[in-house]
Amino acid sequence: MIKDSAPSAVHVGVRIDAPIRFELSSPSIPGSAGDAPVTFVGVSSPRLTWRISAAPPGWHQLGSEVEVRYPDGSTQIARLDGDDQILLDWPFRPLQSRDRAELRVRVSGPGGWSPWSPPAAVEASLLRSDDWAASWITPVTGADPSDPAPIIGTAFEVDSGLIRARLHVTALGIVTPRINGYLVSGDHFVPGWTTYDRLIRFRSYDVTTLLHEGDNQLSALVGNGWYRGRIASLPIHRGRPYGDRLGLLAQLELEYADGRRVTIGTDDEWRTAPSRILANDFYDGQTTDLRMPAAPSLAAPVERLDDETGRLDLAVAPPVRELETIAPATLQDYADIVIADFGRNLVGWVRLRVTAPAGTTVVVRHAEVLDDGELSVRPLRSAEATDRYVLAGGANELLEPELTYHGFRYAEIAGLPPGSLVSIEAVTIGSDLTRTAWFECSDPSLSQLHQNVVNSMVGNFLDVPTDCPQRDERLGWSGDIQVFAPTASTLFDVSAFLGGWLDTLALDQLPDGTVPATVPRVFPKESALAGWGDAAVIVPWVLYQRDGDVGILRRQYASMAAWVERVRTLAGDELLWRGGEQLGDWLDPLAPPDKPAAAQADPDVVATAYFFHSADLLALSAGALGMTEDAEHYATLAARIRSAFSRAYVQDNGRITSDCQTVYALALAWDLIDDAAVRSRAGERLAELVESQGFTVATGFLGTPLVLHALTIAGRTDHAYRMLTARAFPSWLYAVDLGATTIWERWDSLLPDGSVNPGEMTSFNHYAFGAVADWMHRTIGGLSALAPACRTVRIAPVPGAGLDSSRITYDCPYGRIEVGWRIVDGRFELEVTVPIGVTATVELPDGTHIANVEHGHHAFAADVPVVLATA
Ligand code: BGC
Repeated sequence: MIKDSAPSAVHVGVRIDAPIRFELSSPSIPGSAGDAPVTFVGVSSPRLTWRISAAPPGWHQLGSEVEVRYPDGSTQIARLDGDDQILLDWPFRPLQSRDRAELRVRVSGPGGWSPWSPPAAVEASLLRSDDWAASWITPVTGADPSDPAPIIGTAFEVDSGLIRARLHVTALGIVTPRINGYLVSGDHFVPGWTTYDRLIRFRSYDVTTLLHEGDNQLSALVGNGWYRGRIASLPIHRGRPYGDRLGLLAQLELEYADGRRVTIGTDDEWRTAPSRILANDFYDGQTTDLRMPAAPSLAAPVERLDDETGRLDLAVAPPVRELETIAPATLQDYADIVIADFGRNLVGWVRLRVTAPAGTTVVVRHAEVLDDGELSVRPLRSAEATDRYVLAGGANELLEPELTYHGFRYAEIAGLPPGSLVSIEAVTIGSDLTRTAWFECSDPSLSQLHQNVVNSMVGNFLDVPTDCPQRDERLGWSGDIQVFAPTASTLFDVSAFLGGWLDTLALDQLPDGTVPATVPRVFPKESALAGWGDAAVIVPWVLYQRDGDVGILRRQYASMAAWVERVRTLAGDELLWRGGEQLGDWLDPLAPPDKPAAAQADPDVVATAYFFHSADLLALSAGALGMTEDAEHYATLAARIRSAFSRAYVQDNGRITSDCQTVYALALAWDLIDDAAVRSRAGERLAELVESQGFTVATGFLGTPLVLHALTIAGRTDHAYRMLTARAFPSWLYAVDLGATTIWERWDSLLPDGSVNPGEMTSFNHYAFGAVADWMHRTIGGLSALAPACRTVRIAPVPGAGLDSSRITYDCPYGRIEVGWRIVDGRFELEVTVPIGVTATVELPDGTHIANVEHGHHAFAADVPVVLATA
């Protein structure tokens, strides 16, 4: 066996803990013109991860060597013992701003050393505030959000011998930079949304190939975005923009072969002009007069902005990009309007090509659903979601917005003369996350439900995790992402995205530890809300579990502890968090449409359950960080809360106060009941309730993610399956049967007769109830992690509900895990693929356990108990 492990059979790919993932290519000097994309990092000591893509059976890593090569050709090797391959600390001298390096790795195992991996290139961006020579600038006129979006730019000369050029750019607003008319990147809405007076991100680009010897131009279109749009100034939000004046900060750095470095930074010599984008707002849409020049001559003055802005950090999350283009499923051509149905609910905009006379005004409106054949715009509330174009005339004119986005499935296009529409498609956008999990099974409704979860996630991961993408809201509601984080972090790699969001959460946290209901914070008054504020603890914990990154716990620890301490104060000596304003089990299906917080679950029970859970996770986090004293302290606190919870709310017969699905879900999923007999009676009571409710859902935002897990813990996976596959309202498949393509905000966003729910909040794209996908992955798919990053996993699919097959794929940090099962003639057949570095325990439905399943492809079989096959 060992003999086979010829070193050359081990293949290693190296990754750098950096914002951009890339395929490793052949060796090259990073950063010179024509190179593969550069990976910029915003820290001096990036961490390293590698995947070993192939090795003989039984092989395991015993040690590794990392080689760094600097641009001057010098190299250094760090030799490391052991089997670590995830997020290793940088073993070399820290990088300084603009430093470049190339890395490769080889690993040793039984049989010797592997060959070297292909190299990965890294470049430190601007790491210190004094690296910025540029100044913030703004047009002298144009302090009104309804003014045209300005273009700000400069002309400059490039000499011969340019070898490298970097653009570092950010804005107070959203910016699209261009060099010589070419887009610098496909990124949209840079720099994203943070609490700008504390933290503002920038992006770095390799722009070498966009420049030429001689005269060049750099220009930047700046829109209102989050900074100055209605999302900030809506009276119930901040009531005012972050600032009245848009700002641009750009620094172009040129490097010549002879060693000369030239920096061109924003200053008061730059010039500006209004663009042809006359109005722009995320909620309301964009108005564009195409008769005006795309690149007006920049003549108006700019001035320096003295406003203090927050810390400047390199953006580490994937940028917002175009993801897909979608042709309409149907196009209804009425006399004066065209209605396009894109076949699914999506986030982005409509791209049209038209040939019509100059001066024609084309109006594009958007909606998620139709009501009587017309766009149903009531759910958008005050968001106009309308793009307007005045045509320049000419063939195949391109109409698409740059500074807005919409959530829609249907678009109505008005003002087109007959026969003038050349083409139409929808462009979907979102943060360009890497997909990491896929699910399919033999029931097409469940596969559709899973797809709907993915669709809602894609549409709402737009720089911040938003509640919804369409109405006058689109905020980073902390409770929504708290419940959805386990699912989100399975479906996509969200480490940098949510890690970045958590930076803002900590910055926005109130001095007393209260976590804002939305991050970035928009509401003037905040109070501690169970389930929402707990995002401060639960989201970092979930990321740590997924990525094995103890660093996220280290960074967030003070914020996590501050939240738990805040609740401890509110809970008093009794350790029961009672009273106060709570959102509770938001959108319980029995709550009246206009009272979304009026849940069956007693908010006090929910609040103390969350208090326990956060204290418990804080104790575990302290343990993972080696903070023994804190770990003991919070473990004791958690144990005391748990006793207090049982004394106050749990009876010996297992009944929990308010006796509804959600309270049992929380208590069982989080192990809140000490006494095993009482716990098992609580499980029976949950099963009883679920059955008496005809297997329909009776949970809101907080109970829904846990109710199926709780049934599984209670040994009633059969009931969980019946709930998941129930079709009567309220259920997950109710929406699927009504044609949903995304997860709805309400169990009945669409009423059974197809009309739109009359509630004031009715979104068709809210991911919270999609948190059920986590159970689908773990129980149907059968994969759960037993240790962070899936170092050890449990593979234990439980067939049910008549399903005869399922397959999941999950790219964990070590590599790809696949679990596929099918039932053939009463036999359960399981195939699993385990990557190098992961050890699995496999459990078959007949009770067989197989321990220590190592990397490779494995097949198992068992007889299926009849009850599971038909549950
Ligand atoms: C949002 C939710 C959010 C809730 C809490 C709603 O308007 O869309 O998803 O969590 O408010 O109040």
